[in-house]
Amino acid sequence: MAAEKSTGPGNAKKGSTLFKTRCLQCHTIGEGEPHKVGPNLHGIFGRHSGKAEGYSYTDANIQKNVEWNEQTMSDYLTNPKKYIPGTKMAFGGLRKEKDRKDIIAYMKDASK
Ligand code: HEC
Repeated sequence: MAAEKSTGPGNAKKGSTLFKTRCLQCHTIGEGEPHKVGPNLHGIFGRHSGKAEGYSYTDANIQKNVEWNEQTMSDYLTNPKKYIPGTKMAFGGLRKEKDRKDIIAYMKDASK
C-alpha cells in the first residue's frame, strides 16, 4: 500500500492522547499493570502475539503468532478484525496512517 510509505517519525505526544481515548479503556501499558478487557501491553514490541502472561486470549490471537514490530502493529491496528479474523478485540481500527504512526511512537516508549 502506497499509504504505508510516508516518512518521518510519529508524534508520541499525539499518540499518548490517542492511546488514552482509543485504547486505555481496554488496555494498560505500564509494567506490572493489570489486564483489563484486553491484555496489558507492557513489553509488546519484539514479542509474539498472544503471550501476555495470565491473560486469556482467543485461539485466533495466539495462532496468528506474529512478532509485533512497527510494521505488524500498524497492519493490525489498521483493521484488527481483518488482520486477526476471530479476534475478540472490539475495535474498528485506526484508518489514518498518521494516527497509527503517532500511537506506535507512544506505545514503543510507554511499553518499555
Ligand atoms: C473494546 C476493548 C478494546 C479496545 C478499545 C482496544 N483493544 Fe486491543 N485488545 C482487546 C482484546 C479483548 C484483545 C485480545 C484479543 C484476543 O484474544 O482475541 C486485544 C488485543 C490487542 C493486541 C494483541 C496483544 C497480544 O499480546 O498479542 C494489541 C497489540 C492491542 N490489542 C492493541 C490495541 C491498541 C493499540 C488499541 C487502541 C488503538 C486497542 N488495542 C484497543 C480489547 C481492546
